[in-house]
Amino acid sequence: MALVELEQRGHVGLITINRPEVLNALNVQALRELDDILDRVESDEEIYVLIITGAGRAFVAGADIGEMVDFTAADAKTFSRRGNNVLLRMTRFPRPIIAAINGYALGGGCELAMSCDIRIGSEHAKFGMPEVGLGITPGFGGTQRLARIVGMSTATELVLTGRTIDAQEALQIGLINHLYPAGEMLDRAFELAQIIASKAQVAVRQVKQAIRIGTQIDMSSALAFESEAFGLCFSTEDQKDSMQAFLNKEQLSGYKNR
Ligand code: COA
Repeated sequence: MALVELEQRGHVGLITINRPEVLNALNVQALRELDDILDRVESDEEIYVLIITGAGRAFVAGADIGEMVDFTAADAKTFSRRGNNVLLRMTRFPRPIIAAINGYALGGGCELAMSCDIRIGSEHAKFGMPEVGLGITPGFGGTQRLARIVGMSTATELVLTGRTIDAQEALQIGLINHLYPAGEMLDRAFELAQIIASKAQVAVRQVKQAIRIGTQIDMSSALAFESEAFGLCFSTEDQKDSMQAFLNKEQLSGYKNR
């Protein structure tokens, strides 16, 4: 049975981590399947936006402790690199990705969520980086991305203490953008995804890359990247059609995404 599943609804792809019996803990096979699904989505021009969630009561309760317990140092480094490669791919993936966090997002689960472009949570979501309690460091980007999202001081405290926080606190520190009742959260994720999917996709993808790349480099290089992206949009039919429709006071019937 697949540990990671892809379902398509219109232009939105829903990825579900599906190991509910171990609270969707990420093992090598799940990481491999996630990577394979990203391959499928990348070659499918009909999927504009991705949502990622977990089956059952957890989003992802971390990397698979049962698999890691007997790792050698070399095994652990390879596992960390494998996870980091997949999660880095998500940050660079040419579609926006929304994390719909339905329950525990601990360790690797929090790191998976942090690799998405937008995070929303249900009232049952819980977040934390418990690794130091297991005698390890975060290994899928947690020492790097948490500080970039919530600030160095809050991130350092959370990673050093391993404290679990609830969805309300995650909202307060900016780890999630929105908090919804459990029964509504996935619908809200689809609403958000559909809004993004209804826009001009060349522009959407350029925005993601500009934000992602721009926040990693110096401001003048980042602004040069933004100017490139802005210029590129002016070679699309969508820019011409949209601006002309505005000037003609007409309603655009839809984007061509080219
Ligand atoms: N790796 C492997 N198995 C895990 C897991 C993980 N990260 N997280 C949960 N599981 C398994 C449990 O071993 C248990 O399996 P079992 O039914 O065969 O005993 C099952 O998932 C359900 O978990 P359980 O602990 O019984 O649920 P709970 O509601 O009492 O507690 C958590 C939930 C999330 C608080 C608890 O499972 C937990 O602390 N998990 C580990 C979180 C963690 O440290 N993650 C970082 C790893 S680096």
